[in-house]
Amino acid sequence: MADATPKVILPKVQAHRGAKGVRPENTMASLREALAQGASWTEFDVKLSKDGIPVLYHDQDLKRTSGLDGLVKDYTFDELQAFEAGAWFDESYKGEKIPSLEEVLQFHIDNGLHANIELKPSDGEERETTRAVVDLLARIWPKDLAKPLFSSFKRESLEVARDIAPDYPRGLLLYDDLSDWQIHAKNLRCSTIHLWHKMFTPELIAEFKSEGYGIATYTVNEAEIAINLVEMGVDSIITDYPDSIIQALKIK
Ligand code: G3P
Ligand code: MG
Repeated sequence: MADATPKVILPKVQAHRGAKGVRPENTMASLREALAQGASWTEFDVKLSKDGIPVLYHDQDLKRTSGLDGLVKDYTFDELQAFEAGAWFDESYKGEKIPSLEEVLQFHIDNGLHANIELKPSDGEERETTRAVVDLLARIWPKDLAKPLFSSFKRESLEVARDIAPDYPRGLLLYDDLSDWQIHAKNLRCSTIHLWHKMFTPELIAEFKSEGYGIATYTVNEAEIAINLVEMGVDSIITDYPDSIIQALKIK
């Protein structure tokens, strides 16, 4: 880890897209449920509306969770507000909206929740997505609260974060390609590495640790796998079922 890299103490459990296992992902209902289940941290995905407002949405297109053709980035925030974000999961969540990051951050502030903000830009918006998120945080995030963690698969997004918001910790997201991870993590002054759970080996964990990185993994929904990874030295489990993983890890 490079000097002057912000420090972050990862929690044992992070609620993936809220409590994605039992609520429609990346909605206020999902985040409220994560809090109710005892999560102290949430993870969620952020991209921009056409008019540059950061919103929570995983996919680039609206098909899977809103049932519409087209891309998130092609609709203004007001237009997105008319779209459905809950009914695809279950009729009882009909009426859930695509939340603005502002509403979500305010919820975290009000409830003392920590946030892992995954910068998940639409194609071509890698840099402006980070800028918009940083602008919003500068406007509303209280100075005395621990700063959210930025994570991203997109190195350009983390590069902008490093340059304009160096005090916010950064996490390098990796799937199954570990090539040059040391160079990228160092260059981006990352505090944490977030790796797909099937990739871990004792050697790799030892290497992450010896370089001083916090280690997170996704998406782990089975108690036995979570316990095994924590025993191997993984610090933080990102899960769709925070309550069952909290219980399995005997956090409370
Ligand atoms: O941040 C971990 C995880 O959320 C990354 O994958 O596709 O669920 O955003 P994805
Ligand atoms: Mg994510």
